[in-house]
Amino acid sequence: MEELLSGLRAAAEPTRLRLLVLCAENELTVTELTTILGQSQPRVSRHLKLLCEGGLLERFREGNWVFYRLARGGRGVARRLVELVSEDDPTVLRDRARLAEIERERERNASAYFARNAHQWAAIRSLHVPEQEVEAALRQFVEQQGVGALLNIGTGTGRMLELFGKRVDHAVGVDQSRDMLAVARVNLERADLRNCTVRHGDMYALPFAVPSFDLVILHQVLHFAERPAEVVAEAARVLRPGGRLVIVDFAPHQLEALREQHAHRRLGFSDDEVQGWLAEAGLSAHAAIHLPGAPLTVAIWPANLTARGLPVEAAHPVLSMLGELQP
Ligand SMILES: C[S@@+](CC[C@H](N)C(=O)[O-])C[C@H]1O[C@@H](n2cnc3c(N)ncnc32)[C@H](O)[C@@H]1O
Repeated sequence: MEELLSGLRAAAEPTRLRLLVLCAENELTVTELTTILGQSQPRVSRHLKLLCEGGLLERFREGNWVFYRLARGGRGVARRLVELVSEDDPTVLRDRARLAEIERERERNASAYFARNAHQWAAIRSLHVPEQEVEAALRQFVEQQGVGALLNIGTGTGRMLELFGKRVDHAVGVDQSRDMLAVARVNLERADLRNCTVRHGDMYALPFAVPSFDLVILHQVLHFAERPAEVVAEAARVLRPGGRLVIVDFAPHQLEALREQHAHRRLGFSDDEVQGWLAEAGLSAHAAIHLPGAPLTVAIWPANLTARGLPVEAAHPVLSMLGELQP
């Protein structure tokens, strides 16, 4: 009862209820919440503190930014309270519209960044990632078992298609940046990869109506995502039974410059966080692979969608061996 009572007490104030509803939508900073609510920062911070103390929100620091999100633990009091708030409430509608505008603005900034960097992207990437090591580790996912259809979400210059195109029946790269796609098309043509295509699309709403892929790769894309859990769920949606999802991104780091100069939203991810999203998307997560580098560590998080009625090993014998890939 105590948990419920302190949750109810914390939520029983108009601004705090609005904050709760907003943080159920996305992980947000104080600055963003202040902009949406149109209230002073100290006031918003005070309310956020009370919501955290009441067990309804949790805060986490990432470099110079502090994010707030709905508390995951407890008995789901926060989520249930949010569900009681009417979707049609005018204040809620206004807050959500402002949140959507903030998200669009961030996406515009990221798109402008990608457009500016399309041609230099390969060079920028090699500044902070031990690419050969990563690619060697990834190669094993394709080579140990034949892959029919490959989808590369956020394909950029098409590097993953170049790498695996010859080893799969066909491959599709999706990206929201037409500049990136222009570079990818040139690269695929040069490599004579006629079974690979790229198309314009959004990682939150992939242009595929039904499960169509045996392997989906998200390589260095998730740290740009406003809503990474939704990207993972969308990737899982287009997997055929038994299909694999492989996510490659950074382990948690403190390089704030990547945010300021390279439009990163998140400074890496922990295994728990990514594996939680994989589980929520209905996938079985396998042992993460860590490739330590200076200053960034690259992590590979493999998972698969079990064929209905079959245990993981029967659906994909290779996946049962993934733990052995850990260097
Ligand atoms: C860092 S690049 C990585 C490109 C490629 N995966 C690689 O590793 O070479 C990130 C890519 O994600 C794309 N991207 C960002 N947001 C996206 C979205 N909402 N939908 C599709 N692609 C997106 C960008 O346009 C960019 O090409």
